[in-house]
Amino acid sequence: MHMSLRFRLNGRLIELKESGGAVLLDWLRREEGLTGTKEGCREGDCGACLVLLGEAPADPHAGKVEWVPVTSCLLALGDLDGRHVVTIEGLAADGPTPVMRALHDQNASQCGFCSPGIVVAITARLLEGGSIHEAALAAALEGNLCRCTGYAAIRRAVAKIAPDFADLPKDFSERLAALAERGVIPPALAESMKDLPPAASHQKATPAAEGSPASDERTLGGGTDWFVRHPDPEPETEFEFVDRQRKLRGIHKVDGRLEIGAAATIREFFASRAVRALAQGIESFEVDVASPSIRARGTLAGNIANASPVADMTAMLLALDARLRLKERHGEATREVALRDFFLGYKKTAARDDERIDAIILPDAAVPRRVAFEKAAKRARLDIAAVNTAMACRIEEGEGAPVLRDVRLSAGGVGPTPLFLAAASAFAEGKAVDAALVREVSRLAAAGTSAMSDARGSASYRTTMVERLTTAHFLRLFPELKLEEELFA
Ligand SMILES: Cc1cc2nc3c(=O)[nH]c(=O)nc-3n(C[C@H](O)[C@H](O)[C@H](O)COP(=O)(O)OP(=O)(O)OC[C@H]3O[C@@H](n4cnc5c(N)ncnc54)[C@H](O)[C@@H]3O)c2cc1C
Ligand code: FES
Ligand code: FES
Repeated sequence: MHMSLRFRLNGRLIELKESGGAVLLDWLRREEGLTGTKEGCREGDCGACLVLLGEAPADPHAGKVEWVPVTSCLLALGDLDGRHVVTIEGLAADGPTPVMRALHDQNASQCGFCSPGIVVAITARLLEGGSIHEAALAAALEGNLCRCTGYAAIRRAVAKIAPDFADLPKDFSERLAALAERGVIPPALAESMKDLPPAASHQKATPAAEGSPASDERTLGGGTDWFVRHPDPEPETEFEFVDRQRKLRGIHKVDGRLEIGAAATIREFFASRAVRALAQGIESFEVDVASPSIRARGTLAGNIANASPVADMTAMLLALDARLRLKERHGEATREVALRDFFLGYKKTAARDDERIDAIILPDAAVPRRVAFEKAAKRARLDIAAVNTAMACRIEEGEGAPVLRDVRLSAGGVGPTPLFLAAASAFAEGKAVDAALVREVSRLAAAGTSAMSDARGSASYRTTMVERLTTAHFLRLFPELKLEEELFA
């Protein structure tokens, strides 16, 4: 079935019909001839295909367009309804921008293949708001690879750009105007970036729901997992895009619980004040997950539904005792399942074929917990974990050592599914923290796993890592106890 789409491309209104499963990158290059957007890895890893995506913010009261950098190789064309795509050609419409000039002047572009993506990533960071400094712009490039120039020249360009934009206004409209005035965005394009075109279809019902259920239906979040594994269009598949259903967007408190809609992205999760209040310290682990462009599209529901044993968000959510609301795709019936009971085997979950995840629910939104997360991978950034683990707990401070309450430990990469570490969690419950407790909890955590060897690590390496990283949780959460002095004496 073909979906009607209406969106803007570099300020121009586009209306077309799309059968689903084609990605934006192919359409830009083949149909529109916009070859400035490059095809590198086609797996979300290199950033050569980055474009700016303008979309309505999850919070309807935020009242502005949100601009994020996205990998067009993993973005379904069918998901563009009511949105705005800006490519490198749009940014360069009036000639080189200050970002482009800085890259040129610092010799930061040799073959130039990575350069459009780098310009888009920096421009997106300038648009996003928040304070602009060298480290912030460098962090915005964590999803961009350069295979020939070397990163020193790119860092020099970033150092050159940052001071010129340190004074950008906070307000979105004023910032957009300032960027247009300083030549970062052509003024005519900036004018069209203030709002969004009306969508062709306000997808209340999914295409599949309009008729009899299709033989191959697929609920899709950001597509950051799906399109890596399915790079070619699949005209037979009918896609249900969760982010086109307003009720699945956002993170809200409902009846004392925190409901994370199926469309909530990893970026939204870490930015959410409600999440930060409940899961204290969690924002510091955002950099451990993917890159800015993948976090801007990847959803928590997709991270769970994909059922990868090393899914990072799933490890954190297991430690936060999350529950899932599953809903029939073609009916209204819902049921709740604890996340720890959701994984039945390798890539096998408790969701029936006709069900999707509607929301992820964190209980007791009013009871803050401290959170720790550790990830062992071959690269410090933008890599799949060999092992990951998370811990969440409440801490009762008294006269003596702090006492642990509501302890939840999880681990990934050490079994066919993400694991909730029941024995280690139960053992720690209600106990005062000291070196002996840390040793025993870490031992029980490792004992609760069933790791196998593969290219990322042997079974014994993985098991040892769970033990060591569990100890690391305690060192992170209780620095004042100086546990390392006794543990490593
Ligand atoms: C370069 C790169 C780096 C990455 N780095 C990390 C990382 O560091 N850590 C990490 O954990 N992951 C990482 N990922 C994997 C991926 O980005 C995440 O797992 C992300 O959360 C997937 O979400 P999505 O919305 O994009 O899933 P999608 O690709 O949209 O969907 C994935 C699967 O889940 C199903 N699905 C999606 N939503 C629902 C729903 N609501 N109900 C039922 N089924 C659904 C889909 O049908 C599909 O089978 C990375 C991916 C890339 C490309
Ligand atoms: S082509 Fe490499 S991230 Fe898209
Ligand atoms: S300049 Fe060649 S890949 Fe970066």
